[in-house]
Amino acid sequence: MRHEGEIPQDIERVLLDEPTIQERVEELAARISADYAGSQDMVLVGVLKGAFIFLADLARRLTVPHSVDFIAVSSYNRGAVSNGAVRLIMDTRHSIAGRDVLVVEDILDTGWTLDYLLRTLRARNPSSLRACVLISKPDRCQVQVPIDYLGFEIPDEWVVGYGLDYADRFRTLPYIGVLRRTVYE
Ligand code: PRP
Repeated sequence: MRHEGEIPQDIERVLLDEPTIQERVEELAARISADYAGSQDMVLVGVLKGAFIFLADLARRLTVPHSVDFIAVSSYNRGAVSNGAVRLIMDTRHSIAGRDVLVVEDILDTGWTLDYLLRTLRARNPSSLRACVLISKPDRCQVQVPIDYLGFEIPDEWVVGYGLDYADRFRTLPYIGVLRRTVYE
């Protein structure tokens, strides 16, 4: 496994190593490129902050023309229990009306964030609207959200790396690892 020597103390184990992630991103990019082959105006909307690394890798593998934009949201009561209330804290730079929009997210936990985003963006009349999510935790799901492209399903553990953080740390690890419980308990 690559980067084994660099695994920080706070990481209990590697769940998805770098080659596994990169191979899956390649597969997703190939599927998306095929599906959007005829699109005249595709825009990837990355959800900050967590999606920035996944989006960068995915976008660079697409063979269809596209632009990139970002959106940022924040959950009220973010913590062990989410009440589903989500707030838009940064909007896209450009209008999405009439465009083929692909929302790019790092992780689906309760599902409330993506549910909110898809409802909000759909109201702006894009030509099409789909979601690409790297990781889903089915055991945590509180609201069913349609995902068109999914990388991995994982168990309910606190994972960091490849964009995912704990207290804004670990985002730039090239793999996804399980955080030691002692770090957050
Ligand atoms: C994470 C993730 C999703 C959201 C998913 O963001 O990036 O946006 O949580 O959770 P949900 O399915 O329970 O709504 P976070 O709030 O950690 O912000 P970040 O992306 O800036 O790290």
